Amino acid sequence: MAHNTSLVIALLHIFALSFLNILVISNGFESGEISCLRSIKESLEDPYNKFKHSWNFSNTKRGFICNFVGVTCWNPDENRIIGIELGNMRLKGQFPRTKNCWLLTHLNLSGNELTGTIPSEISDWLPFVTVLDLSSNNFSGEIPKRIWNCTYLNVLRLDNNQLTGLIPPELFLLYRIKNFSVANNRLSGPVPMFYNLTFPAESYANNPGLCGGTIGSMHGCSCEFSCSLQTRIFGRLGFLYGVGGGGIL
Ligand SMILES: *[C@@H]1O[C@H](CO)[C@@H](O)[C@H](O)[C@H]1NC(C)=O
Ligand SMILES: *[C@@H]1O[C@H](CO)[C@@H](O)[C@H](O)[C@H]1NC(C)=O
Ligand SMILES: *[C@@H]1O[C@H](CO)[C@@H](O)[C@H](O)[C@H]1NC(C)=O
Ligand SMILES: *[C@@H]1O[C@H](CO)[C@@H](O)[C@H](O)[C@H]1NC(C)=O
Ligand SMILES: *[C@@H]1O[C@H](CO)[C@@H](O)[C@H](O)[C@H]1NC(C)=O
Ligand SMILES: *[C@@H]1O[C@H](CO)[C@@H](O)[C@H](O)[C@H]1NC(C)=O
Repeated sequence: MAHNTSLVIALLHIFALSFLNILVISNGFESGEISCLRSIKESLEDPYNKFKHSWNFSNTKRGFICNFVGVTCWNPDENRIIGIELGNMRLKGQFPRTKNCWLLTHLNLSGNELTGTIPSEISDWLPFVTVLDLSSNNFSGEIPKRIWNCTYLNVLRLDNNQLTGLIPPELFLLYRIKNFSVANNRLSGPVPMFYNLTFPAESYANNPGLCGGTIGSMHGCSCEFSCSLQTRIFGRLGFLYGVGGGGIL
């Protein structure tokens, strides 16, 4: 029930925003959707021509963008995008500039060769994203804290990259999350707590520096000055449940 309600709320938001978009079109500006796709096309390298050829903007028939490779729409006759799925296309470059893509709810760039950081503007660019799959790329740097502001996220997959640093404890605020993985990176510090569920150790596997939570190991979670409150909470839980490393509070 609760899930349905949040879906309805998300849909209402999207329809209201689409209405604004229609106003923009009727005023003679290019639709947000089209400039979104143009900016994605420009910012990704597609050496094997897996999608760019199909993304031809010279056709202007209603719904033409819905026939583009990887683009899904709410309705095939309208240029209103649900998501972009460009997985396993050997794309190169950096995270695309998705500046005009604020109605996008699914973005899957998994299994490419993308490099650079995950931009911290992501929550401004994709405020309604529910599925974000950036797994199996070569993203590096830290997970941006502000990703917590993508409050509709259900699925967040960042596994199999080169991410470093702490997992932001702000992820706690993603209360709709139900599928999460950061396995196979180089992250360190405590695993995050989530609002009302815990993810299994597989979600964190092969990050030699991670500790606490379902991982069990408290090595690296001992409390120095740099410890967050969360670390101390995990330290206490670890102590209570006898997971190891007791008495570190
Ligand atoms: C977590 O909370 C959200 C929102 O309150 C709810 O939709 C979801 O079903 C809850 N999940 C679990 C596992 O309890
Ligand atoms: C795009 O479509 C137009 C008209 O349908 C066609 O003339 C043009 O060659 C196409 N461009 C590419 C790059 O395929
Ligand atoms: C993303 O795309 C890949 C490859 O096409 C697919 O295997 C994976 O399930 C997709 N991820 C999600 C969350 O749908
Ligand atoms: C990813 O980066 C690693 C080293 O940083 C490199 O060995 C590997 O070839 C890269 N993979 C891709 C697909 O770019
Ligand atoms: C998310 O970010 C926007 C602007 O960046 C801000 O106005 C908004 O309050 C933030 N949302 C939440 C839930 O903090
Ligand atoms: C999470 O999403 C991935 C990619 O789509 C899928 O393979 C996996 O089964 C999902 N896991 C759960 C617990 O739903």
